[in-house]
Amino acid sequence: MAMKHLVSIHQLSADDIVRILDRAELFEQCPNRKLLEGRVIATLFFEPSTRTRLSFETAVNRLGGRIIGFSDASTSSSAKGETLKDTISMVGNYADLIIMRHYLEGAALYASELNRAPIVNAGDGANQHPSQTLLDLYSIRKTQGTLFDRTIVMVGDLKYGRTVHSLIHGLSHFRPRFIFVSPDELRMPQEYLDFCDVHGIPYEETRDFDSRVINQADILYMTRVQRERFVDLEEYERVKNVYVLTNDMLSGSKDNLRVLHPLPRVGEIAQDVDDNPKAYYVQQAQNGLYTRQSIICEVLEIEVS
Ligand code: CP
Repeated sequence: MAMKHLVSIHQLSADDIVRILDRAELFEQCPNRKLLEGRVIATLFFEPSTRTRLSFETAVNRLGGRIIGFSDASTSSSAKGETLKDTISMVGNYADLIIMRHYLEGAALYASELNRAPIVNAGDGANQHPSQTLLDLYSIRKTQGTLFDRTIVMVGDLKYGRTVHSLIHGLSHFRPRFIFVSPDELRMPQEYLDFCDVHGIPYEETRDFDSRVINQADILYMTRVQRERFVDLEEYERVKNVYVLTNDMLSGSKDNLRVLHPLPRVGEIAQDVDDNPKAYYVQQAQNGLYTRQSIICEVLEIEVS
């Protein structure tokens, strides 16, 4: 039987997405289930992470599996020059599943093509972050009661933000409308605008983060300007604080609006937003646990009832 991987949100149909979200609901009702007893899961993080790594590791622990791996590649033999191919081949000897974050776009696809173990992409450069997209979709469905016909306002670093890139693809099955808010330097790349055009998805681009935009939103998806992706740090300094959401900016927003952010934040959401009932980013990260439990079961083809 062919090995299953989760490399990109592209590979999932609408039915696949709904199945993963439905299963995540079962885990939200009861996260502790001994479905991974006797299995070893590797987490290989070549880039820093708090939520993705710890929620995947919590998911494995709550499912009764064992974890191996590293959170800092400088402690692995990649620091001695070992190739990704050799690392994946070795870890494939030990683990039943590899969850990997890597700074190179395409690294997860490459690892999956080696077919040494099922691969879950936990983020590859500025490219894709499919498990984040699934937890975002879970959060949207949970807060809106539907995935369909939502207006999603994406704000900040739309150029390098892999979470917004993946979310456009993930939502494309569900008749979204997008408003992209960014400075010129961080505009949504043309390939994603073309994707919207080809799929008949309406969108608007603007530099202005104001009440006209915010008051149309069902979901306000804030993002961090990612210092680590800039080649020119002067450019980063110019754009890093360009948009800051404050509580008063939500005063005319829709009742069903929820503010999402993949986190970490570094200043783009003021602390005074945290107590607003429309702030949902902490629960969003919690939903990552249930969604990642579901993803692990999807890739390992484990039945959950
Ligand atoms: N959202 C997200 O990927 O967070 P971490 O970088 O902390 O994993």
